[in-house]
Amino acid sequence: MSQSGIQKSIESVLRETRTFAPPATFSATAHINSEQQYEAMWNRAKDDPSGFWADMASNLDWFRRWDTVMQGHMPDTKWFVGGKINACYNCVDRHLDGPNRNKAAIIWEGEPGDTRVLRYQDLHREVCKFANVLKKLGVQTGDRVTIYMPMVPELAIAMLACARIGAVHSIIFGGFSADAVADRNNDAQAKVIVTADGGWRRGKEVPLKVAVDASLDKSASVEKVVVVRRTGGDVDMIPDRDFWWHELMEDVSADCDAVPLDSEHPLFILYTSGSTGKPKGVMHTTAGYLLGTTMTTRWVFDLKEDDTYWCTADIGWVTGHSYICYGPLSNGASVVMYEGAPNWPDEGRFWEMIEKYRVSIFYTAPTAIRAFIKWGNHWPEKHDLSSLRLLGSVGEPINPEAWMWYHKIIGQERCPIVDTWWQTETGAIMISPLPGITATKPGSCARPLPGVVPDIVSREGQSLGPNEGGLLVMRQPWPSMLRTLYGDHDRFRKTYFSDVPGCYFAGDGARHDEDGYIWVMGRVDDVLNVSGHRLSTMEVESALVSHPKVAEAAVVGFPHEIKGEGICCFVSLKSGDGDDALKKELIGHVRNSIGALATPDQIRFAPSLPKTRSGKIMRRLLRDVAAGRESTQDTTTLEDLSVLAKLRADEE
Ligand code: WTA
Repeated sequence: MSQSGIQKSIESVLRETRTFAPPATFSATAHINSEQQYEAMWNRAKDDPSGFWADMASNLDWFRRWDTVMQGHMPDTKWFVGGKINACYNCVDRHLDGPNRNKAAIIWEGEPGDTRVLRYQDLHREVCKFANVLKKLGVQTGDRVTIYMPMVPELAIAMLACARIGAVHSIIFGGFSADAVADRNNDAQAKVIVTADGGWRRGKEVPLKVAVDASLDKSASVEKVVVVRRTGGDVDMIPDRDFWWHELMEDVSADCDAVPLDSEHPLFILYTSGSTGKPKGVMHTTAGYLLGTTMTTRWVFDLKEDDTYWCTADIGWVTGHSYICYGPLSNGASVVMYEGAPNWPDEGRFWEMIEKYRVSIFYTAPTAIRAFIKWGNHWPEKHDLSSLRLLGSVGEPINPEAWMWYHKIIGQERCPIVDTWWQTETGAIMISPLPGITATKPGSCARPLPGVVPDIVSREGQSLGPNEGGLLVMRQPWPSMLRTLYGDHDRFRKTYFSDVPGCYFAGDGARHDEDGYIWVMGRVDDVLNVSGHRLSTMEVESALVSHPKVAEAAVVGFPHEIKGEGICCFVSLKSGDGDDALKKELIGHVRNSIGALATPDQIRFAPSLPKTRSGKIMRRLLRDVAAGRESTQDTTTLEDLSVLAKLRADEE
């Protein structure tokens, strides 16, 4: 979006003036409970980051203290250089010394209603055993392990086992297709893949092992497959390649020391979409990431010893990595984990679970909230939600109506809402209300956390004043920032550090208001945010043009009531006219290439796509067409004006 485009879109946003002060009872016991405390922390972190983060690092257990807190400049800053640490040790072992050894670490519920509780002691035993399994399969420190699993406890166990021995996990969301798994296996050169026969979703089995088998035809680096038996469905097990989890676990010991790793040892790779077609392997390292997630969990969720904490994300996304696994477990929390869909067996499932487990902190996404609104208030009203004390939101800008509903119907006007802005690349929450002090404004993620120095700038890098829309950038490095894109450091530098000189920029437009509150307006690049999941338009386009009948495709987002953004594909064919059967075929083709999350909402056939004289597809214009808006855009550079008329005529 151009600067004037950004500004226009802000001006069209209704200014939100309501504010909601935190309840005095909440503030009284909050970890951060005064404005002065926040300001002192924020200023210290900005002016003396080494001193501030060294103090914070005492919240982690180290095998060896670091020599240097911060070394080098952005983008190549290293943190806690010389230190030795292990993320798994911090999430598990260190809770075994006191009474927490008997505390529930993971309270799990499967979609069919089966449950399991793993105390910290149990988690330790399972993780140690699986770490020994990995070693037995030949996995060594630094090797990559793909994890492609349903939301079962073994997923958390597998990731922590990797962290324990210094293997780098690459978790792929279970909704991705076999092709997507193969691409990621290849990029990471994964040696082992951990999966399950399947998982449950809306009463149906998601056949994960079948997808793994198909992916392995195209990814040669993978030597061994470990399969959790979850659904009991039929699977092919190939001798010497495929092994059942439960059989491997039978003959390994439960003793396995956590390996002391360098602070900058890679912890995981997580693939995410960028502006170009190929997914990016965002790489995080151990100490900085762990510190960021540990501290933000404490500050933002105000986590206390007796909280029951539930983040509804899937561990396949960064939210699950940081706020189901590493952040909460490092703090010794009791974490609820759920396998299935929110509307199975009915639309009251989440509220039933909150009542059943007495959940006190609940963290979900705006797309889910919009679905709850549509399903009706009678679902939450059937349940006792009085255990809740704090609500969170993540993934996309939350519209004020959804915020107000969340506040009234779920929070019963009692619970602060933390609207947390961050990204796969930032590792941890960057901008968020602090629930004990921030007067929240519906739709704003409020102010930066300590250690986060954002700015809103023009394309030229000039800081902008209140209510001027621009690019949201970071001016200083922070411990949990990504270190590279796996195998492509050049792309890392170009993607995040070349648009605005001296700053980190990863795609969002924003403004700040007179009170310094930040309002994120969404992506300004070619990345769609569909139900809080990032998808690049180019990825969908390249899937479309890989179909033999397609000559050219352009993909844009359009406002969608539930998903936030829907996917609209403009397709021109090599020959002939498109019909409904071909639309269906193309939708299926995109699903097979990327996964169900990329299912197009609209396919529109066009004889050709509107282009500028230099041959660039006019995406803004297509966005207007997709949204059914009259285009306000200057069309004098259109190569063929009649194309636009044709596209509109195609609107059903
Ligand atoms: C968007 C998810 C507004 C944003 C943690 C960002 C948000 C992208 C918010 C990252 C929020 C996330 N308000 N927008 N509270 N949270 N976003 O990498 O566009 O899956 O760049 O990380 O989601 O998505 P990702």
